[in-house]
Amino acid sequence: MRKIDKGIKKDFPIFKNNSGLVFLDSGASTQKPKVVIDAVKEVYEKYYANVHRGIYKLSEESSELYEQTREKVAKFINTSSEREIVFTKNTTESINLLAFTWGYQHIKKGDVILVTEMEHHANLLPWRELAKQKKAIIKYVPVKSNGRLDMVKLDKMLTSKVKLLAITHMSNVLGTINPIKKIVTKAHKKGIKVMVDGAQAAPHFPVDVTDLDADFYAFSPHKMLAPSGVGILYAKEEILESMNPFLTGGSMIAHVTHKEAEWNEIPFKFEAGTPNIEGVIGFGSAIDYLNSIGMKNIFKHEQKITKIALRELSKVEGLKIMGPKESKDRGAVFAFTLDDIHPHDMATMLDELNIAIRAGHHCAQPLHQSLGIEATTRASFYLYNTEEDIKKLVRALIKVKKLFK
Ligand SMILES: Cc1ncc(COP(=O)(O)O)c(C=O)c1O
Repeated sequence: MRKIDKGIKKDFPIFKNNSGLVFLDSGASTQKPKVVIDAVKEVYEKYYANVHRGIYKLSEESSELYEQTREKVAKFINTSSEREIVFTKNTTESINLLAFTWGYQHIKKGDVILVTEMEHHANLLPWRELAKQKKAIIKYVPVKSNGRLDMVKLDKMLTSKVKLLAITHMSNVLGTINPIKKIVTKAHKKGIKVMVDGAQAAPHFPVDVTDLDADFYAFSPHKMLAPSGVGILYAKEEILESMNPFLTGGSMIAHVTHKEAEWNEIPFKFEAGTPNIEGVIGFGSAIDYLNSIGMKNIFKHEQKITKIALRELSKVEGLKIMGPKESKDRGAVFAFTLDDIHPHDMATMLDELNIAIRAGHHCAQPLHQSLGIEATTRASFYLYNTEEDIKKLVRALIKVKKLFK
């Protein structure tokens, strides 16, 4: 296994081309290692052709590499069937796909869809729109003041009226890691299906969908070193088989007559049109890179970063971190406020100091409303971030604070 040390940064050309850059916005999208960039370049230079169509060598080669990524994804999240892996555009599309297919088939008037207060808009609005169309009811599982999900309230809310629980594995604002396995077991006892938003989980720690037993799991490769424009939807095979198609057109059919159409087998039934061929193949290379380090080691590194960040950030007077104050079941995402400095001013000033950071509501506006604030500044870390990056951030925050006095 490759060790996580300062050498890791050297794998990422962006750091060579932007000397001194402290990149703290991996929660939005990560930087790409040279191996991934090279893999994409190689597709174009050596075997680019459309997949699953051509009866010629190039197309066969690109199709094979494309499908190899599907096998790698299945292994990466520990499912034995790559038929359960659907390529989409991103997490947002994965969840919309589900809402427009499974959701339209199963949610009826008066049914309850549970979401949590810490959901990203991607795992909230598709369900809200579905509920509007179907006259179903949306209920929010509250978040406690310590940034953890209120498990007592959740227990009470898991009633027979609930058809779906849509829940994030890890919050992109609070950093909270939810006990998904425990929650899925409880939900399943009541016959409730569970959709897990793994956008902030799959990049950072091992995810085992077989062990979690969630019915649906979505994530975004661009948040885990891969090119953008690719998303993953995992769904249990028997559910996927029963779902109507989302988009119709080329590639997703087995046979079409003037009047009828027979759908392709899963997962192709859900992959209409030409996909992001180079992006998917690039994702295969990103998985190889992550595996060469090991997801357990990546999580260990981020746990270390989390401990140090919590300690160092707490030294900045007036800084308030959202979410749990302890590193247990918490990821390396820190949304915070500092005095009354507006997060946009903060991000602009940090940018002057070569620190890239996110400011705003991070697509979790209802959560910010519950927290009683409009916006936060967010620092999110990944495997290429170091203790030195945290120290640079803290020094910069103190500088900005002085300037605003
Ligand atoms: C928790 C969570 N869910 C969903 C998304 C949406 O991901 P994408 O923009 O790739 O669809 C994000 C992105 O920030 C996220 O953090």
